[in-house]
Amino acid sequence: MTIRLTVNGEERDIAAAPMTPLVDVLRDTLHLTGAKPVCREGFCGACMVLVDAVPTVSCLTPLVLAQGRDVETVEGLTSADSPMPVQAALEEHDAVQCGMCFPGMVVTLTHLTTAGRCEPSREAVKAGLVGNVCRCTGYERIVDAALAVMEDRP
Ligand code: FES
Ligand code: FES
Repeated sequence: MTIRLTVNGEERDIAAAPMTPLVDVLRDTLHLTGAKPVCREGFCGACMVLVDAVPTVSCLTPLVLAQGRDVETVEGLTSADSPMPVQAALEEHDAVQCGMCFPGMVVTLTHLTTAGRCEPSREAVKAGLVGNVCRCTGYERIVDAALAVMEDRP
């Protein structure tokens, strides 16, 4: 079966079983390895992507549910040459430790820091990050970075 979806702004036709986890399609077929299949149980958030702008665990999302939708991965939300606001703030706040959780963190933070999505308070940002686990426990700096992005946005 061929399923069409948009990934990072590009239409893609994927020939795969409809129940193939989206994270496997992204990594194995499209070679977008930012999303990490760490727990595969919807618990850790390392596989987070945006589906129609909503943070979504790609390990529990069958390919067929992404049909006709707009998927954004960390690769589409970051840039090596010109860091995006979330990316730059995380670097400025020394928030990155081992980095395993960060692709998912960047995805969720991109959503949270978009105007109107989250109140600019520590409590609200922490609540918004409930689906992203950082085993290095660097949460305070991650929250600092998110709040800085919210303060700087127009
Ligand atoms: S790998 Fe998907 S939530 Fe952990
Ligand atoms: S930085 Fe290591 S798991 Fe988050």
